[in-house]
Formats: sequence, structure tokens, C-alpha cells
Amino acid sequence: MNPLMKTQKIGFLGAGNMANAMIRGLVDGGIPSKNIFATNRSDGKLIKLKEHYKINTLQNNEELIDSCDIIILAVKPQDLLGALEPIGRAFDETKIVISIAAGVQMEVLEKYLNNARLARAMPNTPALIGRGVIGYLLNDYDDQALESTVEDLFSALGRTIRVSDEDQFESLMISCSSGTGFVFEMMMYWQDWIEEHGFSPEEARMMTIETFVGASLLAAQAKEGVEELQARVTSKKGITAAGLQSMRELEIERALRISFEKAAMRNKEMAREIK
Ligand SMILES: NC(=O)c1ccc[n+]([C@@H]2O[C@H](COP(=O)([O-])OP(=O)(O)OC[C@H]3O[C@@H](n4cnc5c(N)ncnc54)[C@H](OP(=O)(O)O)[C@@H]3O)[C@@H](O)[C@H]2O)c1
Repeated sequence: MNPLMKTQKIGFLGAGNMANAMIRGLVDGGIPSKNIFATNRSDGKLIKLKEHYKINTLQNNEELIDSCDIIILAVKPQDLLGALEPIGRAFDETKIVISIAAGVQMEVLEKYLNNARLARAMPNTPALIGRGVIGYLLNDYDDQALESTVEDLFSALGRTIRVSDEDQFESLMISCSSGTGFVFEMMMYWQDWIEEHGFSPEEARMMTIETFVGASLLAAQAKEGVEELQARVTSKKGITAAGLQSMRELEIERALRISFEKAAMRNKEMAREIK
């Protein structure tokens, strides 16, 4: 982390799940809690954050912008523009603003944020346990200081990846954020099938999770690609081969691709709705 980061005042507009995970990552990463600020619509979450991390809590969003160099917009997409409308003029080019809201595109944020330096970032839910994939997009491609600020803020939550435009941002969000939900869907199929074969729900859960974790860790650690790893567990005319052949005949890949495309269509629809 750039040592300068420890002197920056970082504000969270919205103190829900994602703000909580980020604050934990920042405090663990050495950002002094006196330099972290947060607001929230209701008080309960702020009281807990103050107790737990000793950060500063503020009563209103104007004060947050006045007090901070970096502001993270961490409210739900449907609440974002309503929250920005009354305070947009308080932003200027000295402020860095990072929105983590899905579905609110850069051009819309630019309209509300009055020349602030802007980034969109998209953490997925494994970020809550430090194993996320966090994609980000900058409104100024050449702003290296903004890039390193985003890297510093999000690297405690997992692996960061910079994308070059809204299309890539969408692909990353669907494959990694919605993708987490798609993987859970498959885990449910696994678990149901195992339970139907006489195992208890706890055993089925453990067998499913360990299969997904084991396969993922093996893929992460192996020098070979996933295709080669798959070939290693598949002998010709064997049991795995029979299952894989069926998966291909049933066109599971096509079904998944259609689901990815449907998610992309919904993202575009949301972007049209939130303007
Ligand atoms: N959770 C994830 O895994 C995840 C992943 C990627 C991106 N995101 C994005 O992150 C954002 C936050 O998600 P989340 O899961 O952390 O949501 P969340 O737990 O609902 O937190 C949002 C918080 O914003 C507060 N809020 C609403 N309007 C406000 C306003 N005008 N001023 C100040 N605070 C306000 C809410 O207050 P109340 O307590 O009063 O409702 C709530 O605590 C969303 O845009 C979401 O798309 C989340």
C-alpha cells in the first residue's frame, strides 16, 4: 500500500455489508481508523461500526464529503441517485469518488458528481471473506494516481482487475458477481442429488463444498489449464467420460451462455432505468 494512503480521509456513504467488509480490510491493512468516516440512513449500523472499528460516524452526507478525500458510494443502486442529488455540487476535482453500485454507469455518475475523479468498482460476495474478484473502471484512463488508490482500497478484499470500458465491466460483473450466484445454483443441484442417494444434508453440503473448493484450489495451484486437469480425471470410455458426454449432448454450455446473456440484458435494462 502506498504510505500516502494512510494520510487520506476515506468516507463511506452507506454503511451496509460491503462498506463493512471494506472497512475491515482497510483497518487490517493499516489505515488508521481515525481516517475512516461513514454515514448511513439509519443509525444502528453506524453505532456498531464505531464500537467495533473506532471509525468516525457522521450525521449527514454533506459533512462526509467535506471531511473526506476519497468517498465510496456504498448504497444500493436504487438509492444512489436520490442520495447524490442534494449533494452533487459539494464534489469537485479534488475528490476521488468510487461507486460500487451495480447498474449505474459512469456517464450517469459524471452528471451528478461535478468534475470529481471517478471510478466504478465491482466486488463480488467472496470479497466479504477476502477472496473476491474486484473489477474497476476509471473515468480517466490515464489517471495513474486514481488507479493506485483503487488498487490500495480493494486489494484487501481479493484480486483486482482493471477493465477498459462498460462492456468489459458488465462481463466481469456477470461472470464473477452474478457468477457467484450461478456457481451456488450448481452447488444446489450437486447437494440435492447427493441427498437423494441417502446422505444427510450435512454430509451432502460438506461433499459439495469440498468438491468445488478442491477442484478450484487444484486449478489454482496446477501448472496445467483446466482442460488438461479434466483430461486427467477422464479415462476413455470410463465413468467420468460417460457423464461428460451427456453434459455435452445436453448442451450445458449453451444453456449457461444463454443465462449469461440474459443477465447482461437485465444489466442494460437497469442502466436504462437508473438515469
Ligand atoms: N454485498 C455485495 O456482495 C455486493 C457486491 C458488489 C456490489 N455491491 C454493491 O454495493 C452496494 C452496497 O451493497 P450492500 O450489500 O452493502 O448493501 P446494504 O447492506 O443494503 O448497504 C447499503 C446501506 O446504504 C444505506 N443508505 C441508503 N441510502 C442512504 C443515504 N442516502 N445515505 C446514507 N446511507 C444510505 C442503507 O441504510 P439503511 O441501513 O438505513 O437501509 C444501507 O445500510 C450496492 O450498490 C451493491 O450493488 C454489493
